[in-house]
Amino acid sequence: MSKFTILYGTETGNSELLAMEISTAAACKGLDFEYFGMDDISHQEFLKIENLIVVCSTWGDGEQPGNAEELFEFVSNLDSDTLRGMNYSVLALGDTAFDLFCEAGIQWDETLEKKGAYRVYPRMDCDTDYAEDADYWTDGVLNELIPFC
Ligand SMILES: Cc1cc2nc3c(=O)[nH]c(=O)nc-3n(C[C@H](O)[C@H](O)[C@H](O)COP(=O)(O)O)c2cc1C
Repeated sequence: MSKFTILYGTETGNSELLAMEISTAAACKGLDFEYFGMDDISHQEFLKIENLIVVCSTWGDGEQPGNAEELFEFVSNLDSDTLRGMNYSVLALGDTAFDLFCEAGIQWDETLEKKGAYRVYPRMDCDTDYAEDADYWTDGVLNELIPFC
């Protein structure tokens, strides 16, 4: 089985809880996902990921959450095509009360594509009552990834 990784970017823990839930849902479908905070994975390990789910909130005024800043900067500075061979999808958490709704997740989605990774499933932008949307998205993305087992 090839390697599946969930990376979460969070300030107050919502993305981390969702990463745990996605990992549990994946196990029920026979997919073995590991999940890490974005500041808990080395650059070398990041570059080895084959199948990536990013769960990331937006903080400040459209900014990356604290534990995502460094990894996001690293990925943004990669040469284009560096991530060719990586499959990914993004679950973005935010709040429509803010002008830059889900901006950090949007940035991850666009940057991973720019660096050569392949978007296997469309990004979902979630408002504060995200439970139902996140469940729906999780089911969809996991079904899309099963063939890569
Ligand atoms: C101080 C603060 C700033 C925020 N800024 C934004 C923002 O610019 N855009 C957005 O869509 N959501 C914003 N949010 C909403 C969070 O992204 C949302 O509450 C999310 O569920 C938090 O997830 P986390 O616990 O994983 O960090 C902000 C929330 C707070 C408290």
